[in-house]
Amino acid sequence: MEAAVTQVQPVAELDVSRIQGDFPILRRRINDSRLVYLDSASSAQKPASVIDAMSRYYETTHANIHRGAYTLAEEATALYEAARARLARFIGAPSPSGVVFTKNVTEAINLVAYAWGRANLHEGDVVVLSELEHHANLVPWLMLKEERGIELRFLRLAEDFTLDLSELERLVDGAKLVAVSAMSNVLGTIIPVRVIGEAAHAAGALFLVDGAQLVPHVATDVRAIDCDFLGVTGHKMLGPTGIGALWARPEILEAMPAFLGGGEMIRDVRLDGWLPNEVPWKFEAGTMPIAEAVGLTAAIDYLEGLGMDAVRRHEMALTRYALDHLRDRYGDGITIFGPDDVALRGGVISFAYKGIHPHDLSQVLDQRGVCIRAGHHCAKPLMRCLGVAATARASLYVYNDEADVDALVDALSTADDLFL
Ligand SMILES: Cc1ncc(COP(=O)(O)O)c(C=O)c1O
Repeated sequence: MEAAVTQVQPVAELDVSRIQGDFPILRRRINDSRLVYLDSASSAQKPASVIDAMSRYYETTHANIHRGAYTLAEEATALYEAARARLARFIGAPSPSGVVFTKNVTEAINLVAYAWGRANLHEGDVVVLSELEHHANLVPWLMLKEERGIELRFLRLAEDFTLDLSELERLVDGAKLVAVSAMSNVLGTIIPVRVIGEAAHAAGALFLVDGAQLVPHVATDVRAIDCDFLGVTGHKMLGPTGIGALWARPEILEAMPAFLGGGEMIRDVRLDGWLPNEVPWKFEAGTMPIAEAVGLTAAIDYLEGLGMDAVRRHEMALTRYALDHLRDRYGDGITIFGPDDVALRGGVISFAYKGIHPHDLSQVLDQRGVCIRAGHHCAKPLMRCLGVAATARASLYVYNDEADVDALVDALSTADDLFL
């Protein structure tokens, strides 16, 4: 199917050349070419402001938090708690006390499965997921299925790469939890979480949203989504690795038993027992990622400086440009797995190219400095639905522009000489 290159709105919402200047890594050359980084769905690059904030913290302020009564420790604690308040505001949470820091979204979902799940889910209880989930929102529930005999039900993928919601009411009937990703890390599909959440609540279930892919790219408000749990991961939103968060309604956190034990998650410990700390600290055992929290604050400052609406508009326009140019150049030679309408998707573009293995494609593109992901993207059940073992995946972010897409489109053709 040959698609004409449609007139795209100029990708001018963001000053991308200025933004590129903010990311030191983009000055690197890879195999004698400029670095074209198209793997932000896996992990985003970091602006100098994030790197500097973390270095400055270590150079001037580091001490352990919540323990010392000296200036440094108080300052470090204030920075850490400021990051919690900053993230709460960024996701529209009414209060910072609903934000529990974790090391990533995987840990956030596991925290729900261990603490809430083991207290509330018993044999025969139903959890509803979807077929397009990342393993992070599958394996913890499969573990509970093995351990407790819970029942898992799945929303299915529709032909147009959206979720088939025709069975939604039947599937959520009697469920205790509905847990879905807000944006597919393979298809780019934006999931109508508000609709799914309403159905979940109408059925008396709690609603968990995996925000790993949505939160970095689309303004997210937990009150508007009306979810009970939201998982976030810092490294995909320009922040450092090693920090993520679980937001949950504070009353749910209050009722949840603690997860990991030790450190400052206690109010008192005796040799014959212990009392948990207040939320959210009840769930933060051991020394937490303090410098990473400082970096996360800087990342949120950076994204808010750009404006999340502008980020979204930029990515919609650039995704349109990429879909059109890939199809215009390669026609039937390329299969794109994901919705065509950019209003329904983010800038994650999974594709198959002329039968060439995605790993081979990735290596060929690397020779031109173009970084894409190849593999199952930690979504093996979805790969089975698509009938493939792996896809190539290019993903866009604020520092990408048309020249990056052009570099991808041009570099793909170099695979022909080697593999066809
Ligand atoms: C939708 C989705 N959920 C969860 C994850 C896991 O993220 P992390 O490795 O930061 O925990 C990812 C990462 O790719 C993802 O795309």
